[in-house]
Formats: sequence, structure tokens, C-alpha cells
Amino acid sequence: MDSLVVGPGALGLLFAARLRALGNVTLVGRKSGLQQSQVQWQDGTLSTLVLPQQGPGEALPEPLDLVLVTTKAGDTLQALSLLLPALPQSVPVLLMQNGMGSQQTVARAFPGHCLLAATTTEGANRPAPDRVLHAGHGETCLGPLTPSAASLAPWVAQKLRQAGFYSRTSHPIEQDLWGKLAVNAGINAFTALLDCPNGVLPEQPDFQQRITPLCREIAAVAQAEGVSLQAEALHQQILTVCARTAGNISSMLQDHRAGRSTEIDYINGYIAQCARAHGLAAPVNQALFEGVKQLHS
Ligand SMILES: NC(=O)c1ccc[n+]([C@@H]2O[C@H](COP(=O)([O-])OP(=O)(O)OC[C@H]3O[C@@H](n4cnc5c(N)ncnc54)[C@H](OP(=O)(O)O)[C@@H]3O)[C@@H](O)[C@H]2O)c1
Repeated sequence: MDSLVVGPGALGLLFAARLRALGNVTLVGRKSGLQQSQVQWQDGTLSTLVLPQQGPGEALPEPLDLVLVTTKAGDTLQALSLLLPALPQSVPVLLMQNGMGSQQTVARAFPGHCLLAATTTEGANRPAPDRVLHAGHGETCLGPLTPSAASLAPWVAQKLRQAGFYSRTSHPIEQDLWGKLAVNAGINAFTALLDCPNGVLPEQPDFQQRITPLCREIAAVAQAEGVSLQAEALHQQILTVCARTAGNISSMLQDHRAGRSTEIDYINGYIAQCARAHGLAAPVNQALFEGVKQLHS
């Protein structure tokens, strides 16, 4: 059975490289052709990945048993708008975007499809357009977004395990998505605004002043959304992640430095929007959201 990877960037090519051992893999990007990349694994070994790539709207290969979506959050709905109407509704589609909001938008647009969401701590980056670096092993946690996906979640997790990714199911997946969202909301925007690696954040006066009220805001919004999250535990978790990933340049800072749009709408922007919907104040999230937006403009 074939797999489809929509969004052949760092994460997509990493997953495609492993899934290829289980069957054919086709990429869906912005244009068609053969995609050749060098994948460098953590132990230093290199694999050459040559996969067919098709553009949006082209006929899908058959039979398909899994669609992995690895576009950035802001590109996801557009990437799926031509593809999903042509896909049998029974094929599981795993959304792997960071942040929140894009997954729910896709689920609202295609409620009859078998949609799942994942949060992953696998790390991949592209030091050059034709090179992917597996920067860190992690865990992929996935669960259903639409009712028909519930029975398929264990099968999808098993397929990812067979491909070599430590994976497990979680229900409700929103709890895990919120957990990752909250940590990203406490790190990514600060690194972009202060132009520094994760490990330098705890020494920055701006971070020190805003992190406590930020964690309180995030916990209050999460609780209003029915998600259990404690402000003090989140604060500690953010500091731990900063220490553990001290040398990392966050994806938001990388995007800003490269002049690409960031995922801020789906991180602090999403939390500020949820706060408004619940009648809560979230001035720190709003300020971080606006600050990153201004950087980009
Ligand atoms: N990289 C990681 O380690 C990692 C870890 C956890 C989560 N994530 C999340 O995973 C998602 C992908 O991250 P990434 O680092 O892999 O980003 P990326 O390298 O920018 O890859 C995104 C890919 O999507 C393609 N794309 C954009 N619009 C498309 C469309 N309409 N149709 C098909 N393809 C389209 C892009 O093509 P172009 O190059 O032509 O724009 C690019 O190849 C993000 O939400 C990120 O936060 C990433």
C-alpha cells in the first residue's frame, strides 16, 4: 500500500525516508517532478531519497493507506483543498502541524474524512534545499480529530512504529496538542523577538518579566477549553526545554531570519483568539503575537 506525504519539507522528507521501507511513497508539493534529497540520520549515516513528487490537483496513486500532512500550519487548508475531495474518506490523514487552529479548520471543512492530528518531538531541518538532517529523536503522539478516525488511530501509530518512529495514541489528542502549544507559546515568539537561541532566553530581562503572567494566561485559557494545565508546572517545563535545547534556533526564529511567514497565528495568536472567545484577557499573548507580526511586516 502507498503513502502520500503532503508538504515535502524537513519533517515530510524525514517521515517519507522511513515510510519508504514499508511501501511506495509519493510526495505532494507545489510542483511535480522527481525529488532527490540526502537524508542524514543521527548516527551520521546518509541515505539518498529519490521519490516521485506531484503537484496539487494531480491524480492520486492507488491504493493509498496513509496520508501524512507536513505543510506549515498556514498552508495546510490550501494544500488539502484539492486533495481531500479526491481521496476516499476511509483513508487516514494525519495532520502534523505545530500549534493549534489549523487542524480544527481542516476538520470543520472535511468532517466526513478520517482525520487525525499528531504532535511530534522528532526534529528535522534542511541545511540545504536537497539535504535533510534528522536533528533529534523524539516521540509522536497521535489521536483522532473526526469520529471515523478513532478506530484507525492504533493502526496509524503502529505503522509509524514499524517505520522507526516511536509513536503512541492519545485520546483526546487536544490535551497533547495544548501541552506542546503551551511550551511553544512560552519560547518561540521570545526567541524571534530577542533573536537568540533557546538557552539564552532565561537570562533575558524581557523574558523574565513576562514569563510568569504569560504562563498564567495560558493556563487560564487552557482550563476554559477544558484542558488541565498548571501555570507553575508550565513555567518549569519551559525552563527545562530551554536548558535541554539550549543551542537550538527555534523554527520561528529560523522562519523570521529567512524572511518566511511564521506560525505565530497558530501559537500565541491562537491562544489570544481563544481567550477572546471565552471573555478572558491575554495581553502578553496578544503582545507577543503582534510583536512577531510586526517583525515580519
Ligand atoms: N521540522 C521539525 O523538526 C518539526 C518538528 C515538529 C513539528 N513540525 C511542524 O511540522 C510542520 C512542517 O514543518 P517543516 O519544518 O517540515 O516545514 P518546511 O520544511 O517548511 O516544510 C513544509 C513543506 O510544505 C510545502 N508546502 C507549502 N504549501 C504547500 C502546498 N500548498 N502543497 C504542498 N506542499 C506545500 C513547502 O513547500 P515550499 O518549500 O515550496 O514552500 C515545504 O516543502 C510545521 O507545522 C512545523 O511546526 C516540524
